[in-house]
Amino acid sequence: MTQPAMELQELIAAMEQRRHRVEQGGGPERLRKQKEGGKLTARERIEYLLDPGSFLEMSTFVEHGRNRLMEGVEAPGEGVVTGSGTIDGRQVFVFSQDFTVLGGSLGKMNASKITKIMDLAAKTGCPVIGLNDSAGARIQEGVDSLSGYGEIFYRNAVYSGSVPQISAILGPCAGGAVYSPALTDFILMSRGTSYMFITGPEVIKSVTREEVTFDTLGGADVHTRRSGVAHLAYDGDEAVLDGIRDLLSYLPQNAREQAPARPTQDPAQRRNDALLDLVTPDQRKPYAMHDVIRELVDEGTFLEIQPDWAKNILVGFARLGGQSVGIVANNPKSMAGTLNIDASDKAARFIRTCDCYNIPILTLVDVTGFLPGTQQEYGGIIRHGAKMLYAYAEASVPKVTLITRKSYGGAYLAMNSRDMGADVVYAWPTAAVAVMGAEGAANIVYRRDINASDNPEATRAQKIAEYKEAFDNPYVAAAKGYIDDVIPMEDTRARLIQTFAMLRDKEEVRPYKKHGNMPL
Ligand code: HXC
Repeated sequence: MTQPAMELQELIAAMEQRRHRVEQGGGPERLRKQKEGGKLTARERIEYLLDPGSFLEMSTFVEHGRNRLMEGVEAPGEGVVTGSGTIDGRQVFVFSQDFTVLGGSLGKMNASKITKIMDLAAKTGCPVIGLNDSAGARIQEGVDSLSGYGEIFYRNAVYSGSVPQISAILGPCAGGAVYSPALTDFILMSRGTSYMFITGPEVIKSVTREEVTFDTLGGADVHTRRSGVAHLAYDGDEAVLDGIRDLLSYLPQNAREQAPARPTQDPAQRRNDALLDLVTPDQRKPYAMHDVIRELVDEGTFLEIQPDWAKNILVGFARLGGQSVGIVANNPKSMAGTLNIDASDKAARFIRTCDCYNIPILTLVDVTGFLPGTQQEYGGIIRHGAKMLYAYAEASVPKVTLITRKSYGGAYLAMNSRDMGADVVYAWPTAAVAVMGAEGAANIVYRRDINASDNPEATRAQKIAEYKEAFDNPYVAAAKGYIDDVIPMEDTRARLIQTFAMLRDKEEVRPYKKHGNMPL
């Protein structure tokens, strides 16, 4: 039996009224407070992030899990807005925590809205984007709230490497709640309005008497400069959301897809004459590896990841001939480009991210070795450095290594030498591959001759020169096939594009295992 027309109108109006109520979140007063704090609202963030008109909301009318403490409490939308939409025409799933509703706190039903879209993302092979702005576990829901977090963490881990997961921190993110973002691929933070920590300033003060502000404890600068927890920091919500769109343009939708390519106006054959002035044969003259990267890649565009942490190694995304590539490069301008604990962690993580998502890796090498010292040894550089070796060996994506200048010792291997699985290794004429620098080598190998000499300094200088002559060049390694070609610097871009095109359909079969046991 059909409903009378008037009754149907009433039903529709009631539905719209309910929807409107949900869309109001915590109400005008709290929404105003949110905006006054320099933040967008949960819905504005989604609108800004996605292609116009593409948002498809899910679980709109979900309500909180009822219990005695929640009686009479209203939570429109259950404190989180969830759904799907498109970014540059590609489908993504998104959840946006609504701080205006119970502080965006996470209860059981709130979590169920989030896990629903995580599951859909995994089933349809699409990225998940989390916009975090929450006071953490909903205190009134007790263990149900902890269980909700558990369900999210579990999926973060299970879907890791299957679909890209990106976390924006746009407000509070405290206590165990930080572990959901920490389990995702990338964390982007807004300066001044977001923070992440396990225990807040009050608890710290009561336990250790240490006084610290939210920002100096867990703000964006702390996590992108000191802790390395977050990958990128921006001023304001809009900039963070723009950052997510940019980042996604380098990533495939899921682990079954090739990394994306986009047409470029930058000619593949563009010569790199600028490199001739930039990288001189004088090993003591540092140069900006950033400039080398920008000279080589399409339109000079490099999306550096973790640019302010462990600056002695550079990692990030770029395009070569339109193809998305990951770049790992020593940075001679910071700590002479040596590898240390943080640099090893940063590089290993990035290499694995590229490998998950089928992004070919270009490694640019100018490294004298691992940073010496008790601080590094006691900190476990052996364990951390091993991560880099492991990550490169494990990565089955196309891997091209270019030695720009020095490549010495263990760092030669850690920067993806031929033996560590590089598919193609190039060197510039300025390159030198050896166990160590000429001075150190001469002092060890020719110690007896130097000590026995009437003029030790002259003998030392002569031995250094001999060693340099013999080893401080790329040709010893090239003669043994460790380097595939010594290439003119000005032809590098063309050569790299050609090489990655050659490797595009590379496949590598590895022995059966459940998963490897990476040193952590
Ligand atoms: C329920 C909460 C809440 C919470 C805040 N609210 N935190 N409701 N559960 N955890 C409510 C407040 O009552 C208030 O409601 C509204 O959210 C906004 O909170 P305010 O305090 O007014 O906001 P503000 O001054 O901006 O301070 C934000 C804050 C503070 C710093 C985040 O709210 C705070 O410290 N909250 C407690 C944080 C916390 O300890 N969470 C548990 C962390 S442990 P009204 O109705 O007044 O608007 C955790 C464990 C996770 O998360 C474990 C996972 C394994």
